[in-house]
Amino acid sequence: MAIAINGGKKLSGIVKISGAKNAALPELAAVILSSDGFEFEGVPEVEDIKVMFKALENIGAEGEFVSNRIKVKIPSLKSGLVPRDIVETSRASILILGPLIARNGYAKVSLPGGCPIGDRKIDFHLQGLRKMGATINIKNGYIIANSDKLCGIEYTFPNKSVTGTENLLMAATLAEGESVLTNCALEPEISDLINLLSSMGADIKQEENGLLIIKGKTTLKGSKHKVIPDRIEMGTYVIAGSFFDNEIIVENAIPEYIKSLLNVLKNMGVKIVIDKNRIKVNPAEDILPVDVETKPYPGFPTDLQAQLTTLLTQAKGVSRIQENIFNKRFKHINELNKLGANIEIKGNTAIIKGKTELRGKVIKSTDLRASASLLLGGLIAKGETIVENPYQLFRGYENMPEKLNQLGADIKLIKR
Ligand code: EPZ
Repeated sequence: MAIAINGGKKLSGIVKISGAKNAALPELAAVILSSDGFEFEGVPEVEDIKVMFKALENIGAEGEFVSNRIKVKIPSLKSGLVPRDIVETSRASILILGPLIARNGYAKVSLPGGCPIGDRKIDFHLQGLRKMGATINIKNGYIIANSDKLCGIEYTFPNKSVTGTENLLMAATLAEGESVLTNCALEPEISDLINLLSSMGADIKQEENGLLIIKGKTTLKGSKHKVIPDRIEMGTYVIAGSFFDNEIIVENAIPEYIKSLLNVLKNMGVKIVIDKNRIKVNPAEDILPVDVETKPYPGFPTDLQAQLTTLLTQAKGVSRIQENIFNKRFKHINELNKLGANIEIKGNTAIIKGKTELRGKVIKSTDLRASASLLLGGLIAKGETIVENPYQLFRGYENMPEKLNQLGADIKLIKR
């Protein structure tokens, strides 16, 4: 299968943002911490979530995933195994590790897969869990962890890590005693996870600057939870509203979550009007070039770097994007250059020379956010662009071709 885009169409209208994949993933892992039932609302129907749901079923979860709702319960654990064939396309397994050792005392989980965007180390996860008292060995692509009882720890993350923070946080809610975690990541998905865990009875204090203090409990209860909107999807559609004479209103948005992007776009001349949970975007007459660097939240997100790069091919002048989080996150550049972009990579910086006229070609997506940037490239390009390997897109964007078609795009799924 591939995605065929007949480019050059004006986009206008309202697009509604789905729930956040990267909030729903750890929240589903948190289900392991209790034997009670859970109900989640606003869960995006994307491949990575389906993988997580399957991995939970494999360890004993009962439930259903219908119409963006998940009802799920793990009354007793059937197994401590998270097999490679279920989780090889996603990072789901690593999020299961902490909660599974905390509840079960044993976990054998496949080393995480996910986007090939560079070194994606898990040493902080393992350091923290070992400090809590788990014995961890890595054998034949599996993390094998045992523990009689996890204990509270003091741990300072050497660098900010999103899933690292989530993993240790979840494990600490069932550990004996107090944990003090410093230099934790500050992404909104983490705050949403804290809200869920607190509603389950966990005792968590979130202080300023990434300090988390968790007092462990012996049991946690079930909960009902609505997942926050996806800030990366939000940002992607705001970027889509920023070229040609598009007129997009992004609905179910939390503008605060993408402040860094909105500031960059304003500097590019894009007109942004915020009205509560709506962001109205009107393109600049001439898009101005900018220099941007990716940083942990609240800085400019690495997950929007590729999409912004596509837009910058339409800016008059030279722009630079420095990627500071992942060391191989430039795979979209070669594909954008096939469409006619003029982008050079120097070290960890992409230098984008614009404005370039893009023309449809056959290109291939390599990872989730890269595929969104290629789709945007196809919307800008004249003629037909074919994006191969659309699975990557469907891992994290709910109904993106359909949502864009509702705005006036001409996108089809084709057999290839
Ligand atoms: C999360 O990945 C997201 N995934 C990613 O989303 C996102 O790009 C990334 O955070 C950064 O914002 C999920 O939430 C499921 P990190 P994660 O640990 O947690 C280094 C998307 O497109 N590091 O914050 O894996 C690491 O190598 C994706 O939805 C260590 O050195 O990222 C990287 O350089 C892809 N040791 C940096 O920290 C560790 O133990 C940040 O990684 C952990 C991380």
